[in-house]
Amino acid sequence: MHKIVLYPGTFDPITNGHINVIERSAKLFDEVIVSVATNLSKTPLFSAEERVEMIKKDVSHLKNIKVESFGGLLVDFAKKKEACAIVRGLRPISDFEYEFQLATTNMSLCSEMETILLPAVKDNHFISSSMVKEVARLGGDVSDFVSPVVKKILAEKFRTL
Ligand code: COA
Repeated sequence: MHKIVLYPGTFDPITNGHINVIERSAKLFDEVIVSVATNLSKTPLFSAEERVEMIKKDVSHLKNIKVESFGGLLVDFAKKKEACAIVRGLRPISDFEYEFQLATTNMSLCSEMETILLPAVKDNHFISSSMVKEVARLGGDVSDFVSPVVKKILAEKFRTL
């Protein structure tokens, strides 16, 4: 059976933490659809199209990855794509309650929708997209947190804002 999973998020922008989760998921499943959320309570710095393009560039070394944006409920998108599960990364302490809430909400909306939580590797415990944006906005070096492609796009974005 061809096992498809979704890896959903805002990805504003994609960080090395996200890339690590994508690479590990790609080894476990036949197909991973990186699912870029468009209807958010967050106000992203990058448009959905910009986020999709950035992710495509960052995962071009992997064969079984698709990148798509979605609106509406994640479980509806998962059903449409015939995904068997949702993958999320889990950083220590801070993420647990939120991820547990997200997973149980999705399960109550769709009882067979499982969530698989992959622990973040040690180097990425403190990375977040907000932190990356703050450092880049203030002219700091984000090389340890994002790919060279994203670093360049961030620098251009803050130059034109
Ligand atoms: N390593 C390092 N950092 C990580 C990480 C990892 N492995 N995984 C996540 N993060 C960070 C991100 O950088 C991000 O940081 P920020 O908050 O500073 O921006 C944060 O953790 C979480 O971002 P992200 O992984 O992009 O997910 P999200 O919480 O923004 O996404 C959705 C939430 C999109 C999955 C959720 O809102 C959703 O499903 N929406 C659709 C509507 C819906 O179905 N709602 C009902 C379910 S609640």
